[in-house]
Amino acid sequence: MIKISPSVLAADLSRLADEVAEIEAAGADMVHLDVMDGVFVTNITFGLPVIESLRKKTGITFDVHLMIDKPERYVERFIDAGADILTFHVEACEDTAKTLKAIKARGCLAAVSVKPNTPVEDIYEYLDLCDMVLVMTVEPGYGGQALIPECLEKVKSLRREITARGLDIMIQVDGGINTKNAPDAIAAGADVLVAGSAVFSASNKAEAIRALRG
Ligand code: DX5
Ligand code: ZN
Repeated sequence: MIKISPSVLAADLSRLADEVAEIEAAGADMVHLDVMDGVFVTNITFGLPVIESLRKKTGITFDVHLMIDKPERYVERFIDAGADILTFHVEACEDTAKTLKAIKARGCLAAVSVKPNTPVEDIYEYLDLCDMVLVMTVEPGYGGQALIPECLEKVKSLRREITARGLDIMIQVDGGINTKNAPDAIAAGADVLVAGSAVFSASNKAEAIRALRG
C-alpha cells in the first residue's frame, strides 16, 4: 500500500495542530516535518520546540526530514521531541553508518536521503542499516518546485538493488509530487510519497490523498 506523507511546509503554520488533525482525518499515513537550518540549505523552517509541542497534540507518525548540517549532533534530541521516522542527508553527515545505528538503537526508524545530484549508489553501503531511503525529487530547501524527472531513474535503480539484496526498505520521494506524476513515482518503485502543495492547496484533502495513492 502506498503511503502518503503530507509536508506541513505548505500548511498554514499558525494553525499547525489543526492542519495536522485535518490531514490525519483525510487519510494521511504520517506527517512530513521539514527541518531546515539555513546552512545545509538556504532556507530556515522550524525545529525541536515546534515538533515537541505538536507531539502533545497528535498521535500521527512523525516523519522528520532533517535538512541540517552535521545531523549526528541532533538525532537524539529529535527522537526525544517525537520523531518516529528520522531522515538525514548523507551529504551533510560525517558518519552515516554510526548515525543510522544511533537512530535505530532508540527504536526510531532510520532513513538517509540523497539530493538530486548525489548518485544513489553512494548510499548502497548503508542499506542494511536503513528502514527507508528518501530520494529527493527537487533540490531541497523550498516547497512548490517542479519534480526533476531524472530523479525517478534513481528510484528505479534503488528499487532493483533493494530487491536483489532481499531487503525490506521503504523508498520515499519528496518534492513536486502531484496527482499527474505520482503514478510515475510509484511505477519507479516509490512507496512513500511526500506531498506539500498537492495536499494543502487542495480544497478536498481526502480526495487529494486518495488520488495521490492511485
Ligand atoms: C523540500 C522539502 C519538501 C517540500 C515538499 O526541500 O523537503 O518536503 O516541502 O513540498 P512540495 O510537495 O510542495 O514540493
Ligand atoms: Zn521534505
